[in-house]
Amino acid sequence: MNRLDGKVALISGAARGIGAETARLMVEAGARVAIGDVLDERGRETARGLGDAALYQHLDVTREEDWSAIVAATASRFGGIDILVNNAGMFLGKGIEEATLDEWHRLAAINLTGVFLGTKLTLPTLRERAAKSEHGSAIVNLASVAGLVGSQLDPLYSMTKGGVTLFTKSAALEFARKGYRIRVNSIHPGVIQTDMGEQTFTARARNLGTNDVDDARRMALSTHPIGRLGVPNDIAKGIVFLASDDAAFMTGAGLVVDGGLTAQ
Ligand code: NAI
Repeated sequence: MNRLDGKVALISGAARGIGAETARLMVEAGARVAIGDVLDERGRETARGLGDAALYQHLDVTREEDWSAIVAATASRFGGIDILVNNAGMFLGKGIEEATLDEWHRLAAINLTGVFLGTKLTLPTLRERAAKSEHGSAIVNLASVAGLVGSQLDPLYSMTKGGVTLFTKSAALEFARKGYRIRVNSIHPGVIQTDMGEQTFTARARNLGTNDVDDARRMALSTHPIGRLGVPNDIAKGIVFLASDDAAFMTGAGLVVDGGLTAQ
């Protein structure tokens, strides 16, 4: 189950957090992975930890030339790409009145433009590999619960993740109509304990006017009926499933992995 033997995956923003754990699980499942990030030292360290099955290449997801370079490097080392995980993302944590236009442009560039460019520039290799494999290629986009319901903490982040949710469905429909055999699905995490997760606690504490991050963490926990916050492994398992042939009949879908947060 959930095996990725012989597959090659490109994961954006995989130097740390959910992306790094996904790279680890994918290698464990038999894949080779290309890790792209702007945190070069951390990214190289993450790739080194995975041995010959991983490469690291600098990737700023907002830059078309960086995507072209990592696609070429991955093809030359591993032969092509079967799986794209659009994981790189940023959180702003400001209200509509506080956020500036420059901050919006940066957020939109990473969370939206990055997903568009990744999809567009990996498409030729994903198509080529899909034609030669039994169940085709796969794209997994990191959306969020904030791409399904409104966010108390970050309305602009929520706007970008809502965009990722529907771009996922639209891309799934376009590729199916064109007969490309590329499945496209999104995953919607609740609060996950990563650097970004910490940023959400800080934003929550600021909103409460207390600056008490521990209190904010307890409040975040209380919104998860399952009784704990998520860890990267919870999400990485979902990503590996969506990328694997076990999800061969899934496209245009959103997998919610949120400890019950949006069930309420
Ligand atoms: P993180 O902050 O630990 O990792 C994000 C990674 O993206 C970092 O390595 C960062 O350097 C990289 N990155 C940022 N800008 C980039 C750029 N321009 N080009 C390439 N890489 C870039 O965050 P985490 O938690 O691992 O998040 C991964 C994804 O999951 C994001 O898309 C995030 O929005 C999403 N997510 C996270 C949740 C959480 O609570 N942690 C909840 C819901 C969704």
